[in-house]
Amino acid sequence: MGMRVIRAKDYKDMSRKAANIISAQILMKPDCVLGLATGSTPIGTYDQLVEWYNKGDLDFQYVRSFNLDEYVGLSRTSDQSYYFFMHEHLFDRVNIEEENTHVLSGMERNGEKECREYDEKILSMGGIDLQLLGLGHDGHIGFNEPGAAFEKGTHCVTLKEATVKANSRFFGSPEAVPKQAYTMGIKSIMQARKIVIVVSGADKADIAEQAFMGPVVPEVPASILQLHNDVVVIGDEAALAKCSF
Ligand code: F6R
Repeated sequence: MGMRVIRAKDYKDMSRKAANIISAQILMKPDCVLGLATGSTPIGTYDQLVEWYNKGDLDFQYVRSFNLDEYVGLSRTSDQSYYFFMHEHLFDRVNIEEENTHVLSGMERNGEKECREYDEKILSMGGIDLQLLGLGHDGHIGFNEPGAAFEKGTHCVTLKEATVKANSRFFGSPEAVPKQAYTMGIKSIMQARKIVIVVSGADKADIAEQAFMGPVVPEVPASILQLHNDVVVIGDEAALAKCSF
């Protein structure tokens, strides 16, 4: 199957189309394992899923989830933690069981242990059925920055200067931004049976072109997705403006 591209009219349309695929996954396999992302792009997707849940069309009772990444040093109660984000945008709004949701613990100082156990847990649940991703401006997926090795599972990364700066918009100052994160690696992401990547806005047009039309290189981590056998790119007009699929 390889890479399929779905062109959406706008952000709302992109969100609905992404939610549609996630919803189909849940309907086909009620106890599916979802890989989830934070960031601004999937917020509309989560809103759409919540809407369908509220209508009674979607049931998260048996759904299990693993998040892509988490900042090191942030507790779950910090409103900048990805744990907090997931509860705010999805988990607290649907009937997913808390014990079925997994977010790496940023307070675990033994990173190696935390990451190894995370990979083991994913494996013990049969692997990820559907991984949702966003696309970073430099081509990152998860916190896998340009140059990241393709063969890594979950691991600890030191954030690039530019990422710290970009994230400081949420933290007030660059000093307040954690400098490290735990993230699923490219290998973990590529092991998902299905991948859905959502991309929105004109500011993503250049990197979308590089990631989806350019050569597969570690300098553009998302380019590896071209080699996955079931990936769906869902982008709005603005984000896919430079892609001539
Ligand atoms: C989020 C994540 C990141 C984001 C990426 C795009 O869990 O791992 O890779 O998907 O930074 O972020 P937005 O959607 O805010 O542009």
